[in-house]
Amino acid sequence: MLDQVTALRYLDPLRAGGSVPGVVETDDLGTYVVKFTGAAQGPKALVAEVVVGELARRLGLRVPPLVVVDFDPAVAAHEPDPEIQDILRASGGANLGMDLLPGARDFRPGMVDVDPLEAGRVVWLDAFTGNVDRTVHNPNLMVWHGRLWLIDNGAGLIFHHRWSAASAALFKPYPMNAHALGASGPDLAAADAELAPLVTEELLREVVGLVPDAWLADEPGFDSVADLREAYVAHLAARAARSSAWLPARFASAQELRAAEERKAAETAAGRPAWLKQVPNRHGLAQVEADWSRHIG
Ligand SMILES: Nc1ncnc2c1ncn2[C@@H]1O[C@H](COP(=O)(O)OP(=O)(O)O)[C@@H](O)[C@H]1O
Ligand SMILES: [Mg+2]
Repeated sequence: MLDQVTALRYLDPLRAGGSVPGVVETDDLGTYVVKFTGAAQGPKALVAEVVVGELARRLGLRVPPLVVVDFDPAVAAHEPDPEIQDILRASGGANLGMDLLPGARDFRPGMVDVDPLEAGRVVWLDAFTGNVDRTVHNPNLMVWHGRLWLIDNGAGLIFHHRWSAASAALFKPYPMNAHALGASGPDLAAADAELAPLVTEELLREVVGLVPDAWLADEPGFDSVADLREAYVAHLAARAARSSAWLPARFASAQELRAAEERKAAETAAGRPAWLKQVPNRHGLAQVEADWSRHIG
């Protein structure tokens, strides 16, 4: 079981990503980044956090400790943002806490030296779990005390969003070319030789067993939570046994990434109504800044 703690105080929302996690103090005198079941991503993102995060830990990668946080929305009654209140009020009960790394910074390529074997292990994990959310644009990696830590594994296990199509996607390769560690020369052959044999049914059953029942209840097509857990184990075990089908072959160069970004910005601009074309969107902002710095030389 993951440790169980109780939320005592809701401090702040973290608005950087999409799911608006909250910083929460708990009865073990801890401070956690909490992902809420009531967020738009839903409980499956929390399932992926546990399965992928605990698997990563057992494969030797650094992941902050995970706990189940019992959350009473009353502890956040002072939060003024009505959209965040909606999420919190829909999240009574078990939520996911990740130990807060005080002073950690979001990773940017070049910030610390990442050795090719470590980069290979991270890319291997993401390719295996179908996590396309660790990119140069959104690294979901942190640097703490000079070392790399994996956070935000909630986008992994894409297949569990549609179980009826899961077997068709069993060996599917997912795009890793814009991976945050692509420029660190990931040694995928070494990572595969090391990690694939470690991902046994026993290990998978252990990590899938850590997911609270509440996040697995009522999945259409399954008679029980136990059956659903076994479906995760069977899917991941079969996928691990055929890594040659999904291991990424290459990564985009910095130049290719830039070109893709410019293409995307141009497409976005073309698709916007005339009155909006001068207003930068979230991704277009980088483009505006790049144009601007070119102007001022
Ligand atoms: N354990 C942690 N310690 C410190 N900061 C964190 C931690 N987890 C997340 N953060 C910060 O919060 C941001 C959003 O968290 P993340 O888990 O990526 O949520 P989202 O699902 O919204 O993308 C991260 O980019 C990071 O800056
Ligand atoms: Mg994130």
